[in-house]
Amino acid sequence: MLCLGIETSCDDTGLALARDGKIIDSVLASQASLHELFGGVVPELASREHQRLLGPLFDLLLKRNGIIKQDIDVIAVARGPGLLGSLLVGAGFAKALAFGLDRPLIGVNHLHAHLLSCGIENPLEFPALGLVISGGHTELYHMRSPWNMERKGRTLDDACGEAFDKVGATLGLGYPAGGKIEKHALQGNAAACHLSAPYLDNSNLDFSFSGLKTMAITRARTAHIPDDNDPDKLADFCAGFSQTIVQALVEKTARAMQRFPHARILYLAGGVAANFHIRKALGEMMEKLGGKLYAPSTPLCMDNGAMIAFAGHLLAKAGFYHALDLEAIPRGREIPDDMLRMKCDE
Ligand code: KG4
Ligand code: ZN
Repeated sequence: MLCLGIETSCDDTGLALARDGKIIDSVLASQASLHELFGGVVPELASREHQRLLGPLFDLLLKRNGIIKQDIDVIAVARGPGLLGSLLVGAGFAKALAFGLDRPLIGVNHLHAHLLSCGIENPLEFPALGLVISGGHTELYHMRSPWNMERKGRTLDDACGEAFDKVGATLGLGYPAGGKIEKHALQGNAAACHLSAPYLDNSNLDFSFSGLKTMAITRARTAHIPDDNDPDKLADFCAGFSQTIVQALVEKTARAMQRFPHARILYLAGGVAANFHIRKALGEMMEKLGGKLYAPSTPLCMDNGAMIAFAGHLLAKAGFYHALDLEAIPRGREIPDDMLRMKCDE
């Protein structure tokens, strides 16, 4: 089965081909340099860029693999959550292909695809817990199968990556800032800059990062960070800020591990999952609890077409598909459980 995956939920245009669940090739165009000029993603520009790039990227992907359109068996597309205009471009392209080629269409939950992307490099095991941390989302899932995932916790305000990006903007690090904060943090001493960990004094599995973001921005301004005469100040601040985020993620995930004792695997995904400190701390926590952490390699942590092709393959193999009235779902709206099923062998 040859599955095409299309990702346009935010500011990356990605396409990939999965043959029987193995990614054979992928293409990705990042719009980061365009949006950096504005300090964040400009939705109108993002949709326009997807519209401009999708066709040529699709042609390139097929051409360099010696594949013709008619070879594609299934078309999978990220149907949300994300920026509505961006999602509509991908969904429109996918529907046109599905209709024109008379092939099944499958709308993939972008967050589920992030988690399932852990299966591209290692076989997936269920039940498991899944933590998605990205620029737009911070969510904790109980995963029973690729199509049965229940959200158990989420951020009440800002996503974890948004905190990195907004604090990074105050520090003059540009957009997106997560990777740059990580680089400075690796040179710093977290103990020299204490910020209190947010939203832990409760018994739930939710997160909150907006208070920490404001506290960090205020601290950076009052302490005049960055300071050209004292580069250690920036490194220590980034280390302290990162450690605080790590603390919140580790504590809530450890709590979830205790509540779901049958799940001994943690899948970590999303752009922020590229962070060394976060991977290390969650890996150590899982080991202590007798479990194991799996996270994709860095390029697969970011938005990409491969994760959509892979998730699409898993769903299509189990007989799921969508009709052509598939709706794109923006961030903030629940993704409906509206997949249709051809056969029921799993
Ligand atoms: O998953 P992604 O590519 O797009 C969204 O769906 O948001 O994630 C992008 C986010 C940005 O907020 C970026 O700052 C963050 O991932 N990020 C990182 C690192 N690399 C990317 N955050 C912390 N440490 C990193 N190394
Ligand atoms: Zn994402």
